[in-house]
Amino acid sequence: MKGLISDLDILSGEEQKQEEVHITKEEGNTGKKKLYIESYGCQMNFSDSEIVSSIMKEQGYTTTSSFEEADVTFLNTCSIREKAEITVRNRLAHIKGSKKKNPNMVVGVLGCMAERLKSKLLEEERIVDLVVGPDAYRDLPNLLQEVDSGQKAVNTFLSREETYADISPVRLNSNGVTAFISIMRGCDNMCSFCVVPFTRGRERSRDPHSIIAEAQDLFDKGYREVTLLGQNVDSYKWSEEQNNKAKLEKSDIQEITNFAHLLEKVALVNPLLRVRFSTSHPKDITDEVLYTMKKYDNICKYIHLPVQSGNSRILEMMNRTYDRAWYINRVDKIKEILGEDCGLSSDMIAGFCTETEEEHQDTLSLMRYVKYDLSYMFYYSERPGTLAEKKYEDDIPMEVKKRRLTEIIDLQNQTSAESNQRDIGKEFEVLIEGVSKKSSDQLFGRTSTNKVVVFDKANHQKGDYVHVKITGCTTGTLFGSLIEN
Ligand code: SAH
Ligand code: SF4
Ligand code: F3S
Repeated sequence: MKGLISDLDILSGEEQKQEEVHITKEEGNTGKKKLYIESYGCQMNFSDSEIVSSIMKEQGYTTTSSFEEADVTFLNTCSIREKAEITVRNRLAHIKGSKKKNPNMVVGVLGCMAERLKSKLLEEERIVDLVVGPDAYRDLPNLLQEVDSGQKAVNTFLSREETYADISPVRLNSNGVTAFISIMRGCDNMCSFCVVPFTRGRERSRDPHSIIAEAQDLFDKGYREVTLLGQNVDSYKWSEEQNNKAKLEKSDIQEITNFAHLLEKVALVNPLLRVRFSTSHPKDITDEVLYTMKKYDNICKYIHLPVQSGNSRILEMMNRTYDRAWYINRVDKIKEILGEDCGLSSDMIAGFCTETEEEHQDTLSLMRYVKYDLSYMFYYSERPGTLAEKKYEDDIPMEVKKRRLTEIIDLQNQTSAESNQRDIGKEFEVLIEGVSKKSSDQLFGRTSTNKVVVFDKANHQKGDYVHVKITGCTTGTLFGSLIEN
């Protein structure tokens, strides 16, 4: 999943993902039990923390921004790379100090690491009272009761149905303008390097009626952009049978069966509501989705289409089920239908098992061909239990992995800078997201193609749409001047 880029200076891939931590805000409600959540990993996890907050709110908890004063501290964790798990272990060691001062504080590990390690986490990390997997959050009130009665509690049951469709998320990190809507959970793809199918379980889609209702509700509250989230949004599906099971009227869902239909219905909520989505899988993105994007101005012209590698043999070993030619065909089709300017980004893995120097060069040449605006770049990190761990040797030395990653990052930085240079002199519609970090006299927002633009405030505020002419740029940011009508 693509992470939310809150900083204006775009960091290189590994730093960008590793540094992103979301922390609950201070609600300032005295007399109530206090909840602190720290969230790691992808947007799905950040979104889940909003579901958890909602469930805990029902139990009388209010959020705090400091675990020192929390009654309950949750770490919502990520297992995608070894580094992500090490970060969480270090945080647990740090929190341990605070628990000495506040022995009644309950410490829970949620999310993907909880799912992967299950009760082993209780043995390995004595400070942990509670281990809860991504499909078991409705059970939190019972589990907390178990902890209150002096036991440790674990629920890592994975569901085939849970989508939390009826739970209205507490918007934890909201700027009041942009929000995320989970449209599906889990993943059935089994890419050989990836732990997600094991930590998140089988793929399931959320009922379309509740998705559209959530988008409408956000619009009514003043939000102007929603991002539809899933590990693989293009495989969203909804059937007549599921419809009957969820007891929905036919008219409620208006014949939505696939992702293109869903995208269209969300776009129709209001022309002033921008719609984004992430992540698209190259094997599944259809021309129907591309034509739907073209048809509606408010569907943003930006696609996160992770390639992972530019070499067909490596892609086969990764079990991505497409090859280089297939990927290039998808990119060509995107440019043909949506134009050369459609924003494109990717995820890259350097140094996958057995990758040769020539195969690494294929990744670089693919990047030169596509000219991504942005990439999230990593070196391969072997994960226990994955297909790659069982089948292949993690045989590329760390210094080679790191050198290849550096080459990928350097090329991406160059491509990002060139992509921004090409925008100088062009005009864009920008949705304002807030005040620039560097100057309170300036605002920032995004173009439809997902580029961050900084410009003078004038009399505008967040949530407004403005037209901006681009006058300059860095690698990660465009600068512009307002075109007043
Ligand atoms: N569902 C999304 C990706 C989710 S994980 C998709 O299919 O594109 C986000 C990214 O983390 C992946 O795209 C991949 O580039 C990276 N990643 C996953 N497992 C990894 C591993 N074992 N080592 C290094 N990077 C990994
Ligand atoms: Fe992992 Fe592949 Fe699923 Fe993405 S599509 S979450 S990389 S298994
Ligand atoms: Fe996301 Fe990390 Fe889990 S990337 S799905 S939180 S393993």
